Amino acid sequence: MDKIVVKGGSSLSGEVKASGAKNAALPILASSLLADGTSTYRNVPDLVDVATMLKVLNTMGCEAERLTGRQKNVCQVTIAGPLTPEAPYELVKTMRASVLVLGPLVARYGRARVSMPGGCAIGARPIDQHLKGLKALGAEITLTEGYVEARAKHLKGATINFDLITVTGTENVMMAAVLAKGRTVLENCAREPEVEELAKVLNKMGARIEGAGTSVITIDGVDSLHPVEHSILPDRIEAGTLLVAAAISGGDVLVKHAVPEHLEPVLQKLREAGCTLTTENGGIRCKAPKTIHPVNITTTEHPGFPTDMQAQLMVLMCVANGTSVISENIFENRFMHVAELHRMGADITIQGPTAVVKGVKKLSGAPVMATDLRASASLILAGLRAEGRTEVARVYHLDRGYERLERKLRSLGADIRRVKA
Ligand code: EPZ
Repeated sequence: MDKIVVKGGSSLSGEVKASGAKNAALPILASSLLADGTSTYRNVPDLVDVATMLKVLNTMGCEAERLTGRQKNVCQVTIAGPLTPEAPYELVKTMRASVLVLGPLVARYGRARVSMPGGCAIGARPIDQHLKGLKALGAEITLTEGYVEARAKHLKGATINFDLITVTGTENVMMAAVLAKGRTVLENCAREPEVEELAKVLNKMGARIEGAGTSVITIDGVDSLHPVEHSILPDRIEAGTLLVAAAISGGDVLVKHAVPEHLEPVLQKLREAGCTLTTENGGIRCKAPKTIHPVNITTTEHPGFPTDMQAQLMVLMCVANGTSVISENIFENRFMHVAELHRMGADITIQGPTAVVKGVKKLSGAPVMATDLRASASLILAGLRAEGRTEVARVYHLDRGYERLERKLRSLGADIRRVKA
């Protein structure tokens, strides 16, 4: 098992490219199930989670692969002939986003057997809203031996009001509705850029979707879809993480391909913290301030402040000249990084969904343990600032969602390397 060793104190500078977005690539790969033929996706990040989705598709009988060499960021999915519409527990337990095959399978094959995703480090994460939407479209849903079984001769359009805003719930039901008879109206939808990107791909396949990116999405069902070629949008969370790396290391970094509109709530908080953010050369430049100011953060759904950037901004606040209050409203257990930051000398008090962060003069390097994807990134950021050596263990969490982060940081001047534990 690998670990990452960081020696703090280098201020980062230069340019780095943001990779394709994990949270767009996963639903888009699942959407390939909706059409026969070969779909080609470019700018697909080389991540463990993407490899898992390709495995899920291959297990059903698709030919899903990542190309090699100069085309290593290209994935192709070929569907030729009948599939076994099933996503096994062994795969779903490693990546709950595998549940995104449920909607496309029941829409296209009239049935699906998908392992119920269990709990996860950051929260219970039920899928009741996914199932509510599929039931409203006419699917018969049963739960047997830990598997969701969904069956429907024909899905029929309906009006569905989500009880709460869910990203993959919106995506799953949208992918089912594109082949349903008649019109579907989804209300209280997630407005994340990744939802909009999925709708863009589905419309390229021949679907008729309007309103993606807003809270009301209208879908007029069609009889069939065709495969597409598409290049995945840049990862706003990876880009945000790299901007925080510039800020916490006292550096000056240009993150190429980062889309300012997708990152506005994060840029706003970095500005409040004293950073200079400019849009240039098809990217975003972050120049760190001499002193980091405390800012308060409340995570909400897009276009509010993303929960996937909470841990990274918390680390920055650990070295601010004052006290910040961070409220996590999306996941009930997303402060696992706090105990590890305490080991590095951070002063953080948790009161339920709120963390009070008192800035300290310095952090000290220490052996720490990653507990989930974004927590692992936050510990590496803390290591960039800390005095001495930080060893981050269990970086398999990091590899699920960051494409060779340590290489990107090293290219900006960080003293960081991956070692076999
Ligand atoms: C997506 O997860 C992302 N994952 C997450 O990114 C991200 O943190 C999350 O959206 C919020 O932005 C992917 O896109 C693959 P939700 P998702 O359904 O769709 C509750 C990362 O770090 N809920 O929007 O699973 C749920 O428990 C990951 O890249 C229900 O109660 O999140 C949570 O509290 C982590 N019932 C809230 O809603 C449901 O049926 C929002 O969850 C669905 C969700």
